[in-house]
Amino acid sequence: MRESPKLFRPNYPKADSANAPILSAPQFSDEFQPLRERAIAWLKLNVPETRLRHIIRVEKMSVELAQRHRLDPEKAAIAGLMHDLAKFFKPDRLLQMAKDEGLELDAIDELNPHLLHADVGAIVARDEFGIHDPDILNAIRNHTLGRPQMSLLSCVVYLADGLEPGRGSTPELEELRRLSRQDLVEATWKSADCSIKHLIQARHLIHPRTVDTRNWFLQTATQRSRKS
Ligand SMILES: [Fe+2]
Ligand SMILES: [Fe+2]
Repeated sequence: MRESPKLFRPNYPKADSANAPILSAPQFSDEFQPLRERAIAWLKLNVPETRLRHIIRVEKMSVELAQRHRLDPEKAAIAGLMHDLAKFFKPDRLLQMAKDEGLELDAIDELNPHLLHADVGAIVARDEFGIHDPDILNAIRNHTLGRPQMSLLSCVVYLADGLEPGRGSTPELEELRRLSRQDLVEATWKSADCSIKHLIQARHLIHPRTVDTRNWFLQTATQRSRKS
């Protein structure tokens, strides 16, 4: 029998900001720099300059958060660098690639194919750049809507995408940035809350996965704090 999702929770640690590691220059493999150069050359042909700057900021913040939370900074860099590969693909192309891949689409994906740029970005990362690490591919897939039970690497890229410095400096964003350095679970819950609030204010559709992500991380943070 499949384990109930309510009972299974990945072992999300409670980050302790007081004992956060001192950040040193991340150590990357020899393959990283050529891969990065190839990705940037590809991005220059496929996204505008402003988007490329956002992507570089997401890469940088993903590395910083990964280091702070003792995750793999190279995986974070690759996922950050590749999270928006398909951002400027046309809706028909996104839908076609998602269907060819056999992805299950719901009504909101069909109405707003732009949401598929995350899933399709992972397809491009795999097919164009030979990325097969499931944690990196999932972090690319989950960067827009999140996903219940997603890994901490996915949380890092999800948070970096929404909180990189180019997103502004409102008190709400500054608080989420502080929280993201301290606790990835709580920051993911509160970032999803913030996205939902903005979607309601803007009268946009809310994808059910955004709500599922919010509920999952709210419950996980709440249960964890009850235990401690
Ligand atoms: Fe995106
Ligand atoms: Fe992005």
